[in-house]
Amino acid sequence: MKTFRIAIDGPSGAGKSTVAKAVAKKLGFIQVDTGAMYRSVGLYIYRMGIEPTDADKVIPELKNINIDLGFSDEGQRIYLNGEDVSEKIRQNEISAYASKVSAIPAVREFLLGMQRKVASEHNVVMDGRDIGTVILPDAELKIFQTASVRERAKRRYDELIAKGQIVDMEQIKKEIEERDYNDSHRATAPLRPADDAVIIDNSNITIEENVGMIAALYELRK
Ligand code: DC
Repeated sequence: MKTFRIAIDGPSGAGKSTVAKAVAKKLGFIQVDTGAMYRSVGLYIYRMGIEPTDADKVIPELKNINIDLGFSDEGQRIYLNGEDVSEKIRQNEISAYASKVSAIPAVREFLLGMQRKVASEHNVVMDGRDIGTVILPDAELKIFQTASVRERAKRRYDELIAKGQIVDMEQIKKEIEERDYNDSHRATAPLRPADDAVIIDNSNITIEENVGMIAALYELRK
C-alpha cells in the first residue's frame, strides 16, 4: 500500500503532538509521536539508575527494551515491556533523560526501523525532530512547527501546573533552552527543518488555525 506521510518536526513545546493528533483525527490517519519512544527509553534508563549520557551502559540495555504502540482516536498509547507508560513518560525528569539518550546514535538506530515500518503500513502524521530529514526524507508533506521560547515555556508551565506538579517558570524556560540546544547541536540527526519543509510559527495562531493550515496543504498535495 502506498501511504501518505505527514512529517511534523520542531522544538519541544511547539505543540507538535497536539496538532499531529488533531490532524490525524481530521484526516483519518494515525498519529505517531516519536518523542514518546525516546521518552520510554529514557524512563527505562532512569528506572535502571543509569546515567543517560553513559552510552556504554545504555546501549547494552536496548535489547531488554520492547516498545509497542497502540492507536485510537484519542491518540497514541505507548507500552514499555508491556506496561502502559503513556502518562509516566510525561514527568518532567523524564524529559531530560529522553533528550540525553536521544543523542546516542545506537538509540536512534534502535527506533528508526520501528518508525519507518509504521509509516509504510499506515497513513501517518508522525511528529518528532528528524522525521522530515532522516526517518521519512521522502514524506509527501513536511512541516517544521515552532514558536518562541517564551510562548513554549508558558505552555509547558500551564501543562505541568494542570497536572498538579510544582514548577518554576524560569526553570522551565532554562530547561527548554537547554533541550533546544542539545537537540539542535547533537552530532546525529540534529533538529533542523528539511529543505522542503513548510515552516509554521504558531506563537500567535490558534491550534485550530495550525491544524487547518496542515489540512489545507494535505488537500493540495494528496
Ligand atoms: O517531543 P518530546 O519532548 O516528547 O521529545 C523528547 C525528547 O526526545 C527530545 O528532547 C528530543 C528527542 N527526540 C528526538 O531526538 N527525535 C525525535 N524524533 C523525537 C524526539
